Amino acid sequence: MKNHILSIAFLFVSTISMAVEGMWIPSLIKMFHSDMKTYGLELSPEQIYDTNGSSLKDAIVQFNGGCTAEIVSDQGLLLTNHHCGFDAIQRHSSVENNYLKDGFWAMNLSEEIPCPWMRVTFVRELTDVTENVMEGITDKMSTEDMEKTIQNNIRLLVGRMKHGPSVKVSVKPFNKGNQYFMLITEDYNDIRLVGTPPSAIGKYGGDTDNWVWPRHTGDFAVFRIYADENNNSSKFETANKPYKPAYFLPISMVDKEEGDFTMVYGFPGTTDQHYCKEKLDFIMNQERPARIKMRQSSLDLIKPAMNSDAKIGIQYASKQARIANAWKKWIGQLGGLQQLDALSVKEDWENEYKDMANSDREFTNRFGTVLDDLSNLQNENQRYEFANSIFFEYYIYGPEFLRYAREFGVLTKQYETLVEKGTLDETLEKLKGHVASFYKNYNKDLDQAIYNALTPLYLDYTEADLQPSSLAENWEKIGNDIFKNSMLMDLESVNSMLDNFNKKCLKKLQKDPALQLAEQVVSAYLTKIRPSFISFTEKEEVLMQTYVEGILTMFPDKKTWADANSTLRIAYGRMEGSAPHDGMKYTHFTTIDGVMQKYDPENPDFVLTDRFIELYNKKDFGQYTQDGELWVCFTASNHTTGGNSGSPVIDGKGRLMGINFDRSWESTMSDFMFDESRCRNIAVDIRYVLWVIDKYGGATHLIDEMELAR
Ligand code: ARG
Ligand code: GLU
Repeated sequence: MKNHILSIAFLFVSTISMAVEGMWIPSLIKMFHSDMKTYGLELSPEQIYDTNGSSLKDAIVQFNGGCTAEIVSDQGLLLTNHHCGFDAIQRHSSVENNYLKDGFWAMNLSEEIPCPWMRVTFVRELTDVTENVMEGITDKMSTEDMEKTIQNNIRLLVGRMKHGPSVKVSVKPFNKGNQYFMLITEDYNDIRLVGTPPSAIGKYGGDTDNWVWPRHTGDFAVFRIYADENNNSSKFETANKPYKPAYFLPISMVDKEEGDFTMVYGFPGTTDQHYCKEKLDFIMNQERPARIKMRQSSLDLIKPAMNSDAKIGIQYASKQARIANAWKKWIGQLGGLQQLDALSVKEDWENEYKDMANSDREFTNRFGTVLDDLSNLQNENQRYEFANSIFFEYYIYGPEFLRYAREFGVLTKQYETLVEKGTLDETLEKLKGHVASFYKNYNKDLDQAIYNALTPLYLDYTEADLQPSSLAENWEKIGNDIFKNSMLMDLESVNSMLDNFNKKCLKKLQKDPALQLAEQVVSAYLTKIRPSFISFTEKEEVLMQTYVEGILTMFPDKKTWADANSTLRIAYGRMEGSAPHDGMKYTHFTTIDGVMQKYDPENPDFVLTDRFIELYNKKDFGQYTQDGELWVCFTASNHTTGGNSGSPVIDGKGRLMGINFDRSWESTMSDFMFDESRCRNIAVDIRYVLWVIDKYGGATHLIDEMELAR
């Protein structure tokens, strides 16, 4: 008996996971700092977040609105993921100068390539202003009056702040509107590409390995922030200088061990932990399956086209990656949610909530019906939510000619005004630019095939009264007409039209079948779907605010965190593997030997360059090994999501261990429901990054710029 108890206790200790659910707000660091210390953090709160002195936060930026990046030298050198820099790398690539295929390394500052459309965003301050925002709010107010008061308070708060032109002040709701924070941010706009490995390193494993562990991707790219002579934000100017940061991250060259403290500091985009059961059911059983099917259909066409034609390969690389990424994540999420029996978990929790609400008169008044209200609202309105998703899937991720053609609506709708104002020529010039950039990455046959595959799905999924009228009967004929006769679909005709635009062209354009279809699809959305969808989400927001208020009020001891909202957050945990399937264990790291094991010259996802193979065979790993091995990736138990790509994984002493770039497939459901035993983020080991820069790229001057800590 005693033995038995002992072994149970042992089992408990050895399988207990160290994962911590939650993405924490850095300015509230004092509230979770002591817990972080139990995991091995050695830094003080002020070293992590401080608005008076310099701290870790000053080395972390949001990268071009979507990803995260970190500064690693006193010269504004920036690390992020290859897939975050992908657009920039692709834009600078051509068949002759193919940085996607061959990589690129600037050997000095003058070779760094300007990306004037990019920006990075620093967080200067993050302050809880809930009290100020809620000033004057009373229980008796109508929802409209409350909203008005809140917006007015926000306007006053923002108006009071004095700041320079590159600084932005905004107030954002957190926790479904139960909390408000003021964000002071600053953009820097002169960003240059410094280096990138070839896709055979940076995207190694491609879509096959995407979202999958074990992983062997060197998913990183190097950029630099430039500033004017006073170190201030500036648009691109040749004379600009490397930015001098308030803080940069030293690089951890020390050996790593399972159990080491890890923290991810970055900009997670969206999580939906509070979906009610009804909504989660809708997502799991209707919305995601439909979107998965639509993406599957276009990927089935795009992938073979890319593989058989080098030009299409470059043209569609970025688009394909975008479509495939969410497609695969969703499949993983559905699997994970089913594994967790997520709907039962929600049901149990909702019963607990209702019981608590019924246990006290005041609770009953405030929170007694909110879950039923949410669930009824969902049932009554989800046909709009569904149609909304399907429209986006079709219009934004489907046949591209629709969005392209609709841009010409400015001519048909505003011709007279443009002539009157004398801005017609300017508009025509803009459209010429639009045409050129569209056709650079466009293949008409492929787009026609996508139209033919996706239109029937779009029509199938959208209820008849929410569709463009009579499209269902005619879509094939319309499609043939567009691809054969639309002047917009022929580069020469469209350019000659723009060169000599007159009334006759206008008449022709008004009848153009591509423009007409685009207008019909969008107008059906704007008139039949969007108004009802918006009114649904507005009602839902009000109920969600109450629902979460109920959690905070009735369960004060519950560890709660605010859903991700693209603001700066901290996730902490440990470096650790996992065992998500019976009879199978994932180690916490991979090595370069695994890269070679996956090598397959016949499979575009697993090709390697000759140079890589040569370096591998020479075993020239320099100072970057641990016990003779070169680590490539590792996993840790930090709660992360999309937007955390490029985020630094930081050790207990504040040094950079790796760059976050993914989660394992089994853990992607953490956007809705976290599971300590399975949820793992994936990072590329910083020593592999340095090895590639140094030994593969020969850009040793970049290593010299960094601070390597041992
Ligand atoms: N899954 C990662 C993220 O969500 C990486 C995506 C890029 N990689 C790819 N093979 N498409 O962004
Ligand atoms: N790759 C994702 C990104 O671009 C991060 C992976 C995740 O969703 O956790 O942000």
